[in-house]
Amino acid sequence: MADIQTLKEESRVFPPPADMMKHAAISGMEAYQALCDEAERDYEGFWARLARENLSWQTPFTKTLDESDAPFYKWFSDGKLNVSYNCLDRNLDNGNADKTAIIFEADGGEVTRLTYRELHGRVCQFANGLKSLGIRKGDRVVIYMPMSVEGVVAMQACARIGATHSVVFGGFSAKSLQERIVDAGAVAVITADEQVRGGKHLPLKAIVDDAFALGGCDAVRNVVVYQRTSGKINWQQGRDLWMHELAASQPSACEPEWVDAEHPLFILYTSGSTGTPKGVQHSSGGYLLWAMLTMKWTFDVKPSDVFWCTADIGWVTGHSYIAYGPLAAGCTEVVFEGVPTYPDAGRFWDMIARHKVSIFYTAPTAIRSLIKAADANPAVHPDRYDLSSLRLLGSVGEPINPEAWMWYYKNIGHEKCPIVDTFWQTETGGHMITPLPGATPMVPGSCTLPLPGIMAAIVDETGQDLPNGQGGILVVKRPWPSMIRTIWNDPARFRKSYFPEELGGKTYLAGDGAIRNKDTGYFTITGRIDDVLNVSGHRMGTMEIESALVAHPMVAEAAVVGKPDETTGESICAFVVLKRPRPEGDEARQIAKELRDWVGKEIGPIAKPKELRFGDNLPKTRSGKIMRRLLRVLAKGEEITQDISTLENPAILEQLKHAI
Ligand code: WT7
Repeated sequence: MADIQTLKEESRVFPPPADMMKHAAISGMEAYQALCDEAERDYEGFWARLARENLSWQTPFTKTLDESDAPFYKWFSDGKLNVSYNCLDRNLDNGNADKTAIIFEADGGEVTRLTYRELHGRVCQFANGLKSLGIRKGDRVVIYMPMSVEGVVAMQACARIGATHSVVFGGFSAKSLQERIVDAGAVAVITADEQVRGGKHLPLKAIVDDAFALGGCDAVRNVVVYQRTSGKINWQQGRDLWMHELAASQPSACEPEWVDAEHPLFILYTSGSTGTPKGVQHSSGGYLLWAMLTMKWTFDVKPSDVFWCTADIGWVTGHSYIAYGPLAAGCTEVVFEGVPTYPDAGRFWDMIARHKVSIFYTAPTAIRSLIKAADANPAVHPDRYDLSSLRLLGSVGEPINPEAWMWYYKNIGHEKCPIVDTFWQTETGGHMITPLPGATPMVPGSCTLPLPGIMAAIVDETGQDLPNGQGGILVVKRPWPSMIRTIWNDPARFRKSYFPEELGGKTYLAGDGAIRNKDTGYFTITGRIDDVLNVSGHRMGTMEIESALVAHPMVAEAAVVGKPDETTGESICAFVVLKRPRPEGDEARQIAKELRDWVGKEIGPIAKPKELRFGDNLPKTRSGKIMRRLLRVLAKGEEITQDISTLENPAILEQLKHAI
């Protein structure tokens, strides 16, 4: 293990605060190393011990890891448990019944508090309501809801009865929603009349209706609607039900459905390099173990903490660190409906002060946009707020640039709070590579070292280990409990995407490039190695956006690339060939707007290209392959210095050089 001196020569290094070092769950690098050694020595024994110590099992497991059908690994497979029982009932038994589970703050500022007992009652009633609709273990339920107590209740209620949920982010379009409902074969959809963000009302139920109108949702028997705004909506008698009416008459106790550890807790769709989104399937036992354990290890959560993860339940971060992990760990968490900039860009800091948040977990994009806002308007500068309750900060979803890291460290953490830069993915279920707040010396921009038991490594295309200092492909060499189990409906794609033959078929391919520091072994993620973009921490496939563009009647061909962006990390730049002559000036601007709106309707507003350029053609090789690396250079506005000898039509580059 590197000493602090060698790190200093490399770059700035920040040791963890001394008092945290003393009291943290993993205290000091020796404790970290001891856990890594334990995993190295007896991998299955290590995980079995943690699963026994951290989860309540209805039927204890005797088998830890089953590799007989690799890469379809099974964990704790003969054990039975219930995720909702572990998150709720367990807290009633261990003295947390009257502890606040959720502090909910609405967009307009109204605050609601729920104890563990109240949350348990709400979940049980709604679970009984779902059962009264005939929803059973293994049925799929799509959840298309705003950030709300009801959203968490819906997820927990599904878990309680063994229904597999699939949460669809409220920013996705009717078409994206319909595709997910169909692929999952959902029997019910839970939604809200409207969602409220930044003072604006946005439809949800109407989008569900539009999704149904697209066809194929025949398996859905009911649409359950949370009444958020009482805005006007259409109602289909017999199919549509109010959430509060469904729950009202139900008993407030509901025996949990005991499921196998491998039972699918949820499916969450995410973008891949090709084609349609993939339904990432997660387990119950292994998934919950890691959601809970990373709350302890990475966030060092203590009974007195107020934890706030600003993610949306529509993303995996909202699953692991809002809906499940914090509750399994028995802590008090903040759930926030709104946006960081409403009523002004001081909202996050104001909420931290009012709710005495001690652990704050957000995305680099949010930090960067709030830096800008604070620079522009001193009234929303974090200096104006009492942030003294904070003791730990986290970052997630994309690389955090050292400048943003330093600002976060100084202005939010006042140089007293460690920052955990957590690298992970929808597929990994929980944190993989991250500093430990009471152990790891931090280096801005590096996610540092893998958690104990996570066998991360960097290899070349053939799977050969690369020495530190040499960039390569990030892999995980052994299965871990919270890993993706399969792609829903597509096991072949699961194998191909994550366990390719070229790497031997048993090594998990993360899809990111990475490099380890020569001296410290610290990991730095260098970005996706496939055609996946990360815009504001939202994952997007270039192919998905291209398919949406070419579905427009005017478009002949399209290529999408990422372009570095100061605030959003990456932004989407689309190169488009129309079926008609290349437009210029106002006409080009007009068509660009139409195409952007089109993509918004096809996928969702988050997929709208920030920039569009038109050409008579795209740069291609003689065999007709689009040369994306050239497009990436053009998008950045840089001169092409690479070899273009294989380019069939060099003249086209001039056309695509300039933004319209
Ligand atoms: C991709 C996964 C992490 C859960 C939410 C996003 C990028 C994520 C980091 C980080 C550098 C990061 C990777 C990864 N990413 N965290 N700390 N540093 N890059 O999950 O939507 O599945 O996206 O986000 O490229 O592969 P996701």
